[in-house]
Amino acid sequence: MLLTPKLDHITTADYENVYEPAEDTFLFMDALEKDANLIKEQVKPSICLEIGSGSGCISTFLGQLLGDSSKSLILCTDINPYASQITLKTGKSNMIQLDPILTDLTSGLLPRLRHSVDILCFNPPYVVTPSEEVNSSNLIEKAWAGGVDGREVIDRTLPLVDELLSARGVFYLLVISENKPDDIRIIMQERYKFQSEVVLSRLSGREKEIILKFRR
Ligand SMILES: C[S@@+](CC[C@H](N)C(=O)[O-])C[C@H]1O[C@@H](n2cnc3c(N)ncnc32)[C@H](O)[C@@H]1O
Repeated sequence: MLLTPKLDHITTADYENVYEPAEDTFLFMDALEKDANLIKEQVKPSICLEIGSGSGCISTFLGQLLGDSSKSLILCTDINPYASQITLKTGKSNMIQLDPILTDLTSGLLPRLRHSVDILCFNPPYVVTPSEEVNSSNLIEKAWAGGVDGREVIDRTLPLVDELLSARGVFYLLVISENKPDDIRIIMQERYKFQSEVVLSRLSGREKEIILKFRR
């Protein structure tokens, strides 16, 4: 069993600006650990990309899972400059090389990374909120506000998955029931011919969190 990355370099003040790892983050790491054999033995990733890395906990965990012999590049994007800084520190504190990029979703990475990403991860802003909150100037609000059906950021991401993923690539996405996971799976199947499955799901209070996995 892999240990959760060390996060003691992150202060309470940091968490005023950066999403604090929570149940969703831990479910995501559990899903990656469950798929460790697939990731290490079959996918053997050269390029990993996490969208919305926040504290950097998930990308650091992925780096630990891949191990010292891995030559994977782990890129992390976030729209929040504090998150990019903390992601870098979390990697360093755990001896994992992460390359954070401050950008909206994956802007600037395409077309260069077209069909090159082997592991793509996103724990998105998924909470159902009024649309206006998705574009809030409050960085913490941006971490969870998902707009209508909690889908506004997720829906902008789906077409990018087809552009980014390599032939052997896998996309992990956290959703909640309110995001209509079956609808997301149908869109990915019908528009982009991706197969999908549920890797893990867990109740967190009244919220059912689900990790979906998509492959070509
Ligand atoms: C639910 S938090 C997850 C953070 C971290 N990955 C974790 O699991 O603890 C969502 C993250 O996505 C980032 N985010 C929101 N909208 C984004 C966008 N358009 N592009 C890139 N990152 C975004 C937020 O700043 C936040 O760090």
